[in-house]
Amino acid sequence: MSSLRQAQDSAWFTSPDDAATRLHEAGYLADAATATTAYLAGTLEKPLLIEGPAGVGKTELAKAVARAAGADLVRLQCYEGLDEARALYEWNYKKQLLRIQAASSMADQSPQSWEETHDDIFTDEFLLTRPLLTAIRREQPTVLLVDEVDKTDVEVEGLLLEVLSDFQVTIPELGTVSATRRPFVVLTSNATRELSEAVKRRCLFLHLGYPDAERERQIVTSQVPALDEKVVRQLVDVVARLRELELKKAPSIAESVDWARTLIALQVGTLDEEAISSTLGVVLKHASDQARAVKELGLAASGR
Ligand SMILES: Nc1ncnc2c1ncn2[C@@H]1O[C@H](COP(=O)(O)OP(=O)(O)O)[C@@H](O)[C@H]1O
Ligand SMILES: [Mg+2]
Repeated sequence: MSSLRQAQDSAWFTSPDDAATRLHEAGYLADAATATTAYLAGTLEKPLLIEGPAGVGKTELAKAVARAAGADLVRLQCYEGLDEARALYEWNYKKQLLRIQAASSMADQSPQSWEETHDDIFTDEFLLTRPLLTAIRREQPTVLLVDEVDKTDVEVEGLLLEVLSDFQVTIPELGTVSATRRPFVVLTSNATRELSEAVKRRCLFLHLGYPDAERERQIVTSQVPALDEKVVRQLVDVVARLRELELKKAPSIAESVDWARTLIALQVGTLDEEAISSTLGVVLKHASDQARAVKELGLAASGR
């Protein structure tokens, strides 16, 4: 990390333009709203909630902020059944048990009261920190990514609230741990369920949708520079048409990039009907979606 970055200290980005430029340098092409929100989240030290369909760059934005700021990324991947022990901390029972056994076997030489043992085993040494606590305790610049928060049960939001509102965690046996340096917090959601108002209130909100054609061309070109410019245009155009169809799963940016790589591998010089038909599986992952695309785009189904 440069001394200049260090001197700026808590300022993640100095302006929306600075955010756009540095995210770009980190490989992320942000539109104006995204760059502005990233700047604000850093400056106001507010968590950023990003909502949108799969594969539009929600997770990637958090990673790019970390790269751009020379910060470490601490990630909490959410899933059904995620609990406090996995999100926050838990005590290392095995180690505690060993410690108790050791104490009792030495009892003749140096008798130790239960109070003493208890004080011993509820210390840092026996604590297993999980992502939320890890991020709070870090002294280096940190991006905390709470990914796919809509997959957890509502109870986990209560946990998040304590962390997001006060940037502190209370451990009954140890006391309250407060952040010395607030992490840049990013929550992502695919909007499979509504998050609680309490969580939303504490966050800045950014909706990420599919990019416009120009931005998608830039993203594809920056990730697959070898692909011919004409083919990139064709690809982005077809993807846009596919998104207009009523599909189970519309192709995302991730699929556009995959498609570009596929076309390179197959050395496709022009994205004609045949090339589309034979590679449709890279962009559409449901048989019914493929059938619809074949029909609506007037492709020859036999190609597949
Ligand atoms: N603005 C962007 N700039 C560069 N790459 C992007 C951008 N948006 C999406 N991508 C690409 O799309 C992929 C999928 O994005 P990801 O963040 O995983 O999606 P999700 O919204 O599901 O979290 C990324 O790995 C990245 O390659
Ligand atoms: Mg994601």
